[in-house]
Amino acid sequence: MEMIKDIYFKTIENSELTIFFSVAEAQETNKEKKEVKEPNKLYVRGNNVIEYVIPNNFKEDTDIIRKVGGHIIDYLLNIYVKRVNIDVSNFDSQMIINLIEGMMISSYQFNIKSKAVEPRLEIGLVNANKSLEKEYEELKTLFYYVNMTRDLVNGPANIVTIDEFVERIKKEAKNHEHITLKVFNSDDLEKLGMNQILAVGKGSVNKPKLLIMTYNPSQKNKESQNNEYDLALVGKGVIFDSGGLSIKPAKSMETMKEDMAGAATVMAITLATSKLRLNKKVIALAPLVENMPSGSATKPGDVIKSYSGKTVEVLNTDAEGRLILGDTIAYAYKNYKFKKLIDFATLTGACIIALGPFAAAILGNDETLIKDLIESGEKTGERLWQLPTWNDYSELIKSKIADIKNIGIDGLGAGTIVGAVFIKEFVENKNWAHVDFASTAFHEQKIKYYHPGATGFGVRLVIDYVKNKLN
Ligand code: BES
Ligand code: ZN
Ligand code: ZN
Repeated sequence: MEMIKDIYFKTIENSELTIFFSVAEAQETNKEKKEVKEPNKLYVRGNNVIEYVIPNNFKEDTDIIRKVGGHIIDYLLNIYVKRVNIDVSNFDSQMIINLIEGMMISSYQFNIKSKAVEPRLEIGLVNANKSLEKEYEELKTLFYYVNMTRDLVNGPANIVTIDEFVERIKKEAKNHEHITLKVFNSDDLEKLGMNQILAVGKGSVNKPKLLIMTYNPSQKNKESQNNEYDLALVGKGVIFDSGGLSIKPAKSMETMKEDMAGAATVMAITLATSKLRLNKKVIALAPLVENMPSGSATKPGDVIKSYSGKTVEVLNTDAEGRLILGDTIAYAYKNYKFKKLIDFATLTGACIIALGPFAAAILGNDETLIKDLIESGEKTGERLWQLPTWNDYSELIKSKIADIKNIGIDGLGAGTIVGAVFIKEFVENKNWAHVDFASTAFHEQKIKYYHPGATGFGVRLVIDYVKNKLN
């Protein structure tokens, strides 16, 4: 649910409040003064006028102004106002866009309370460059898909089931001319031999599915006779991760409805690429499973023959994401041609230990792709930090009885890297990047401009990459 009704690039009439900005002074100048204006504070300056003091290092990092936007929305939602003017006279275009982004991210709140709240805020930007209106329209389109992702991820596992996920994506795809959607059910997966996906789904009454979405802009079709995609995306879609028979403790299970964030993210990116009419061919694949313990569940020690032919010893059924991604990525390489492949997965708790809530981990074998994505991350505030995938780490997943095993060696750590090098076993070309966003897809607390819950992390990031870097 969005709390902002709309943003106008003009002064709005009958406003109940006006906010203007000043910049905090450097600390040295502060010392001699009586009144010290503190950054990120709001000062009442007369009737219905508020001065917001922005931190003086706002040029260092675009996220500072996004946080200002988030802070303002939180403030406005706490007092009862509907119509507010924000004076952006001293902001350049970049700052205005970052302010709007922060406000839009922060204005999303999810709940399933019986009493619905209506979006109420109308915001007028005073002295904003009118030409930015077009960019705002694009942002609205983009945020539709950011928030679609957040709705899917926030949706409890009893509501956003495997079938419901498929239905919602089908409904979205209908509004797009150049999108196709294929759904493989568990019989199809069996015929194809996607046994890693089936092994993870075996313990649940809800059968696994594999979703494949393509976007093929018509201009592109005429240009290129070959059927190569510019970008392939693969997303982990574990509707609920109980851990399976290697069951999680109750506390760690509380947020495991979030474990399909990868799937939601790659579908949203593809739909956004289409709605923004970007001239790139995109394919997105998302395996959907529910990881549950039961009499029919995969057991620790089971050996699976994967789609690629490699045999996999499942020593921990809670390391399930890499299994379903392995088969899906092998399927993508075998059946499609594409220039780059990015996978998104809430793969490891170790990623949270390493980076906290402010960055996702990126690993892979394509340094250009990784560098470009890191740059898009800096620009969008969806930060990435690279970890290595040296061959040494692959030693850790050698199995005594099968080709590979799905966990590393007790006590040697490197959980996030081990997850990545397992996936690497199914990668065929040097064109791959893996984003482990267990750290940023979902927060239990309020972090930066995100209210607790799903963040939509990855959608703005990859759209920036597709727009500005991918060729
Ligand atoms: N879905 C979890 C990872 C996760 C943890 C995502 C916290 C979001 C928040 C994943 O399937 C998992 O359980 N990984 C195990 C792997 C281990 C058994 C090798 C983990 O990280 O503990
Ligand atoms: Zn797990
Ligand atoms: Zn998982």
